[in-house]
Amino acid sequence: MTQSTTRIKQVELGKGGPLVGVQGLGCMGMSEFYGDTDETAARQTLDAALAAGVTLFDTADVYGRGANEEFLAPFVAAHRDEITLATKFAIERSDDPQYRGIRNDRAYIRQAVEDSLRRLGTDVIDLYYMHRRDPAVPFAESVGAMAELVREGKVRHLGLSEVTGAELREAHAVHPIAALQSEWSLFSRDVERSAVGAAAELGVAFVPYSPLGRGFLTGAFADASVELSEGDFRKFQPRFTGDNAKANAALLAPVREIAAAHGATAAQIALAWVQQRAQVHGLTVVPIPGTRKPGRLAENAAATRITLTEAELAQLEPIATQVSGDRYPDMSSTSAAREA
Ligand SMILES: NC(=O)c1ccc[n+]([C@@H]2O[C@H](COP(=O)([O-])OP(=O)(O)OC[C@H]3O[C@@H](n4cnc5c(N)ncnc54)[C@H](OP(=O)(O)O)[C@@H]3O)[C@@H](O)[C@H]2O)c1
Repeated sequence: MTQSTTRIKQVELGKGGPLVGVQGLGCMGMSEFYGDTDETAARQTLDAALAAGVTLFDTADVYGRGANEEFLAPFVAAHRDEITLATKFAIERSDDPQYRGIRNDRAYIRQAVEDSLRRLGTDVIDLYYMHRRDPAVPFAESVGAMAELVREGKVRHLGLSEVTGAELREAHAVHPIAALQSEWSLFSRDVERSAVGAAAELGVAFVPYSPLGRGFLTGAFADASVELSEGDFRKFQPRFTGDNAKANAALLAPVREIAAAHGATAAQIALAWVQQRAQVHGLTVVPIPGTRKPGRLAENAAATRITLTEAELAQLEPIATQVSGDRYPDMSSTSAAREA
């Protein structure tokens, strides 16, 4: 397997943004959504990330209803100046585990930032994202409120998640946006319709989330509805279950073949693909694969050194159009829903 102790290279996270390792770390699974977590291994993963040159750490207030931010606090305290800390607001939860509201209003944002700063144990967030857009609230209000936080020194840079290209342009006119975080992988390429082009044009960095297709692209799943525990949200993901899972698993044959040719893993090929696809669009990307295991962290970081040939890229090109099932059971809050 391609691995090395060399630190990954650094890139600017958006025009005028901070320098970060070219791959970040998604911390969500350390607290929720992907089944039980071994806390010791998760903390070792954070340390392994830093050792590998991974400096962008991604969380959100919604992950574990604040628990993920609290989990990160000791790491943040120990390494505040070495890391770029990203968190998000906008998804409201309640005691009903199924409930999700979207809040973009100024009063909500001002309270959310205070709560995140307290849980993270810091006085400034490096990159503050709007996690989901409520189209009923104009960007003048939402991004306007986020810009106030920059002026007040509570936040350094602004980001958006799951917005269309047109929305990114509109928001960027209110205040410069450093990063757009949306799902982008061999299985999920709807962002290439408009968001990727707009980000490239505006000098906004792209932060692909779920670049491993929530783990599916690693080849680990045959039918999540029977393999996973109740607490794992992939048990109900359209792409992971039943006939869809079977059909989607078959799509991984070229990924495995290319992996074998490079002495690499399927996960590494999926990560190398995102980096190279971004080059086609003239875009800076900092994918944030999520892992809770230090060995996988090293494996994923090493993928930044793999270069796929034109023939390999061509072999991977048709996969996304053949995927069965949507990215989410309910797509209504995604950018794709507002582009249809
Ligand atoms: N903005 C948004 O709306 C949004 C939505 C979803 C996620 N995110 C962010 O994006 C981050 C990454 O996305 P994600 O975690 O959903 O999906 P992902 O990175 O595509 O995949 C994560 C899954 O892959 C497994 N994995 C990681 N590396 C592996 C390897 N080398 N070999 C085998 N399995 C491997 C992980 O398991 P282990 O943990 O057990 O290693 C985990 O189950 C999240 O942590 C979160 O910060 C943002």
